[in-house]
Amino acid sequence: MATKVTGQKTACVVGGTGFVASLMVKMLLQKGYAVNTTVRDPNNQKKIAPLTALKELGEVKIFGADLTDAKSFDAPIAGCDLVFHVATPVNFASEDPENDMIKPAIQGVENVLTACAKAKTVKRVILTSSAAAVTINKLNGTGLVFDEKNWTDTEFLSSDKPPTWGYPLSKTLAEKAAWKFAEENNIDLITVIPTLMAGPSLTTDVPSSVGLATALISGNEFLINGMKGMQMLSGSISISHVEDVVRAHVFLAEKESASGRYICCAVNTSVPELAKFLNKRYPQYKVPTDFGDFPSKTKLVLSSEKLVSEGFSFKYGIEEIYDQTVEYLKAKGLLK
Ligand SMILES: NC(=O)c1ccc[n+]([C@@H]2O[C@H](COP(=O)([O-])OP(=O)(O)OC[C@H]3O[C@@H](n4cnc5c(N)ncnc54)[C@H](OP(=O)(O)O)[C@@H]3O)[C@@H](O)[C@H]2O)c1
Repeated sequence: MATKVTGQKTACVVGGTGFVASLMVKMLLQKGYAVNTTVRDPNNQKKIAPLTALKELGEVKIFGADLTDAKSFDAPIAGCDLVFHVATPVNFASEDPENDMIKPAIQGVENVLTACAKAKTVKRVILTSSAAAVTINKLNGTGLVFDEKNWTDTEFLSSDKPPTWGYPLSKTLAEKAAWKFAEENNIDLITVIPTLMAGPSLTTDVPSSVGLATALISGNEFLINGMKGMQMLSGSISISHVEDVVRAHVFLAEKESASGRYICCAVNTSVPELAKFLNKRYPQYKVPTDFGDFPSKTKLVLSSEKLVSEGFSFKYGIEEIYDQTVEYLKAKGLLK
């Protein structure tokens, strides 16, 4: 294991066991950072094994911390230059979204940012938000262009409670709480707004978003309905490679001129259009292409123009996203 060298920068990654965060720890180590990362249960060997394996790339310290435990973030964030707040409670099947997702997500933001303010060494905080904090509203139409000025309609989510309403509401309210706290406490905050992500994962289990993104290939009816629901609620099926999303976080952390929110979206499509593409590219999986009158034109597209005009370029398009994800699932024995 390497030890910290003089002048080396330290980054804290909150929620290191996750799909995005574990790859972020890896990328930061490869870029020469020392990394502190937090996990809920440092004794869960199955979950922390991918992080322990990264110790050969550089200095990784693993801390126990829970979003609902304010003090638990003091030690991992003390002395850090950058903080990436990636963790969020995800429980789509929850019968109590208020307590399972909304409250802990907001508390988590406030607890992490409080520790950042206390540390006095943190130059910038990068919060992982979600397209779910941007795109959900009661508008009708097709071909709308959504950018960083758009916010999800929280009143609609709270009053109509469409399926899975708790997660988008938690992400929107948590991002809003972060902006409020940052303004009041003079914290340099950037929020990254990713779409549904796919691509190979370091985690022991296959991430749920990879399962969702590949539902048309695996033929899982429940998840195919989940994708349809996603398109109806969010207005599109928007997808990115997880590595591009992680690169965008690190790029924005290091880019001095960056400020505000940044949408990170590689591809905007719909369930029928995606199915057509997958059916042609992977004929062996017999992806269904008849969706009756389910809309193949999306209500909206998410624009990454702000991120791209900052100098970021996406490495992966739809072909590479799916080619790599299919190979990853084959290696896991989940696809033939
Ligand atoms: N994946 C996507 O397609 C997608 C799309 C848009 C936005 N995002 C956002 O990207 C971020 C990362 O997503 P992901 O897919 O990597 O998620 P993930 O794999 O499900 O990881 C979620 C992480 O949050 C941690 N966590 C949950 N509740 C916690 C609590 N109370 N205290 C401390 N940690 C807690 C989990 O820790 P444990 O290991 O202890 O459970 C886990 O490390 C999230 O903010 C998510 O909203 C993801």
